[in-house]
Amino acid sequence: MPSISKKGLSMPESPIRKLVPYAEAAIKKGRIIYQLNIGQPDIKTPSNALAAVKNNDIDVLSYSHSAGFESYREKLAQYYTNHDIKVSSNDLIITTGGSEALLFTMGSIADAGDEVIIPEPFYANYNGFATSSGVTVVPVKSKIEDGFALPPISEFEDLITPRTKAILICNPGNPTGYLYTQEEIQQLAEIVKKHDLFLVADEVYREFAYEGAKHYSVMSIPGLEEHAIMIDSVSKRYSMCGARIGCLASKNKQVMATAMKFAQARLSPPTFAQIASEAALDTPQSYFDEVIEEYSSRRNTLIAGLEGIEGVKVAKPMGAFYCIAQLPIDDAEDFAKWLLESFQLNNETVMVAPAAGFYSTPNTGLNQVRIAYVLKEEDLLRSIEILKVALKEYKA
Ligand SMILES: Cc1ncc(COP(=O)(O)O)c(C=O)c1O
Repeated sequence: MPSISKKGLSMPESPIRKLVPYAEAAIKKGRIIYQLNIGQPDIKTPSNALAAVKNNDIDVLSYSHSAGFESYREKLAQYYTNHDIKVSSNDLIITTGGSEALLFTMGSIADAGDEVIIPEPFYANYNGFATSSGVTVVPVKSKIEDGFALPPISEFEDLITPRTKAILICNPGNPTGYLYTQEEIQQLAEIVKKHDLFLVADEVYREFAYEGAKHYSVMSIPGLEEHAIMIDSVSKRYSMCGARIGCLASKNKQVMATAMKFAQARLSPPTFAQIASEAALDTPQSYFDEVIEEYSSRRNTLIAGLEGIEGVKVAKPMGAFYCIAQLPIDDAEDFAKWLLESFQLNNETVMVAPAAGFYSTPNTGLNQVRIAYVLKEEDLLRSIEILKVALKEYKA
C-alpha cells in the first residue's frame, strides 16, 4: 500500500472530538448527553445575517477577491476602528474561518523547524496548524493557581532561541477564559520588540468579556505595527461557526503581501458566507448586550456550581465561554470516557473535554477538564448535579 506522510501521521487528533464515538454509542443506548465539551454556542445567529443570504438574487455564485469582498473589508475595518483597532481595509484578509488565518500566519512567518512560543493550556488546534506548517510549538506554562495569568516574562525569555519566530496568545483564552490585562499585553509587546519577533493574538472571543472588563488588542499598541498580527472570526461573535469566515489583520505590509499569496492559492473565501458576515456587521449593540448578559450569568452559575463540588478547583474566567476545572481524580480522560460509557443519572450524562490535549507538555493537566458554558442555565445546573454525583461514584 502507498505510505502516508510523516506529517500526516504526526497530525494530532482533536481532544475535543476524540470522545465523539463514545458519545455516539451512548446516544444509541438512548442516553441524553449535556455537551460541555465543544464551543458550539446555542445562541441564535443574527436574523439580518441569515436574511441577507436568503434574500439575494445572485445568478452566478462566483469567486470573490482573494482578500475577500472590498465592501466587507471596508465595513469590517470600520467595526474594528469602533473597537479601538485602527485598521484600513488593506490591513485585512478575509479567510475561511480564524482557522485559515492561523494557517496563513504560520505559513507566512515561519519555516519548517522554526518555533512559536505559546502559553499553555492553549486551543488544541494550534498543534494541528503547527504540524501542518512544520512549526515547533514551545509551551510556556500558565497555572490554575494563578488563574492562568500570563507566566512571568522571564520564562518566555528563557525559551527564546535563534529559531523563535513568534509568541502566540489567545485573548480571551480558550480553554482558560483568561483575559490579558493591558500591562500583560504591554509586557509581551516589549519582549517581541526586544527580540524582533511577531506577536500573534487570536482574538476570536474579543467581544466576550465579563464584569465590564476591557479587552486590549495587540493591534492597538503604538509601535507594534510591524510585529502584531491579529486573528479574528465571525464564528463566535455572531454564533456563525458554520459560515467559515475569519480574518487576518496586520499593519506589516510584508506579512500581508505574503499571506495574500496563500490566499490567492486557495482562490477566495466563501461568497454566501461573506454576504452573511457583511450583513452581520449591522447587528445592533442590543444583540451583544443580551448575549454577554446571558454568558455572564451562565458563567456565574457554572463557576458557583463547580466551586460547590468537593475537591474541584476552577479559575474564574473573565472572557470567552470556557473554563478549566481541576477534578479530584487522576485521569480526566478515563473519567470523561467513563461518563459516556458507564455512568448515568436518570438516563442523563455529561460530555467534557479532557484538558491534557490543551497542553503540549506531556503529562500535564491530566486531572483537568475543559468545560464550555454554551448551554442554557437549567442545563448547566443539571450538568453540575450530574458531575457531582459522577465524581462520587467514580471515586468509590
Ligand atoms: C481560540 C480559537 N481560535 C480559532 C478558532 C477557529 O475558529 P473558526 O471557526 O473561525 O475557524 C477557534 C474555534 O473554536 C478557537 O476557539
